[in-house]
Amino acid sequence: MSKTILVTGGAGFIGSNFVRYVLEKYPDYKVVVLDMLTYAGNMENLPQQYMNPGNNGHGRLSFWYGNVRNGELVDTLVSQCDTVVHFAAESHVTRSIYDNWIFFETDVMGTQVVSNAVLKHQDRIDRMIHISTSEVYGTARAELMDEDHRLMPMSPYASAKAGADRLVYSYWATYQLPMVIVRPFNNYGPYQHLEKVVPRFITSALLGEPLTVHGDGSAQRDWLYVGDHCQALDKLMHAPMDNLKGEVINLGTARSISVLEIAQMVKEMTGTHSPIVFVGDRPGQVFRHTSSTEKARNLLDWQAKVKFEEGLERTIAWYRENRKWWEKGIWLRQIPIRTAAGKIEMH
Ligand SMILES: NC(=O)c1ccc[n+]([C@@H]2O[C@H](COP(=O)([O-])OP(=O)(O)OC[C@H]3O[C@@H](n4cnc5c(N)ncnc54)[C@H](O)[C@@H]3O)[C@@H](O)[C@H]2O)c1
Repeated sequence: MSKTILVTGGAGFIGSNFVRYVLEKYPDYKVVVLDMLTYAGNMENLPQQYMNPGNNGHGRLSFWYGNVRNGELVDTLVSQCDTVVHFAAESHVTRSIYDNWIFFETDVMGTQVVSNAVLKHQDRIDRMIHISTSEVYGTARAELMDEDHRLMPMSPYASAKAGADRLVYSYWATYQLPMVIVRPFNNYGPYQHLEKVVPRFITSALLGEPLTVHGDGSAQRDWLYVGDHCQALDKLMHAPMDNLKGEVINLGTARSISVLEIAQMVKEMTGTHSPIVFVGDRPGQVFRHTSSTEKARNLLDWQAKVKFEEGLERTIAWYRENRKWWEKGIWLRQIPIRTAAGKIEMH
């Protein structure tokens, strides 16, 4: 059966990869993107060949410029769809240290607006997939973090996302809405904003500039290739909803790699002579994060396929080939913050 999917934040990194994935894989699906095109959103991320106006009005992708907090607009768009995939958020941990008001406004209140629209149009909504984050857990208390790990968000970004995550859960618990929550671990891949660590390292290496590592670089993360994430969401859109309502599902690989190791791999794979330099640690740093993958395997029959080394090679190739896309954003790679030691530093 064909679907019409509302994708909030569809002009961002993961959202646009998902939009492209859906339109390429399902020739009869339609996608409606709502995006406010903040500094992180970019029309060039969207596959233009599917766009409505560019295709004599016959495209399967329509784009709405607007704020996810605009109740009337969100209401109208939800009323035209059967599936909602909610990505829209302020998404950068470091930026949330520097200026956090907008994080609570977009990530929490925006999620409330979307959830309220789903409540109003529950007769036609098959499911809402909420994109939360593994950051809600804080530093790992066990080798592998499962979905019952306690929530100890360590940054304003993580706490805003924890609020949104539990808000969505409560709409299932209170109104029995078809809500499902995913907690992806660190994503990387094409179209990722340069402020995030993997593209920051890659573009610094390609420019011959130093690769800047926070603290001693020992902070470890579980790295998920964005294409694997899209496949998990595909499974989630099509699995029987009875098993999924109100569930939280981690999306990760069960392997963690330190930031310093990534810097070293990027150096090796690009062949750059750029040095690795160290700056103060980020306040509220999470030191280790590795996903348990059992629940995703059991509920969705999904597991990540792309090994980090292979995903990194693909990502480096993409940034090499798409210099025009990223060159104008070079200045956004770093932002000033006050470090744990009280110093103002560019991070
Ligand atoms: N990138 C990761 O590693 C990662 C990991 C786990 C979870 N997530 C979550 O996945 C989602 C997408 O992350 P991303 O990395 O693609 O983020 P991103 O910053 O690249 O994209 C966010 C998109 O949301 C849009 N947006 C922001 N505020 C908006 C508003 N008020 N109204 C409408 N649109 C708005 C932006 O314009 C942008 O297109 C987020 O919810 C994030 O918290 C990301």
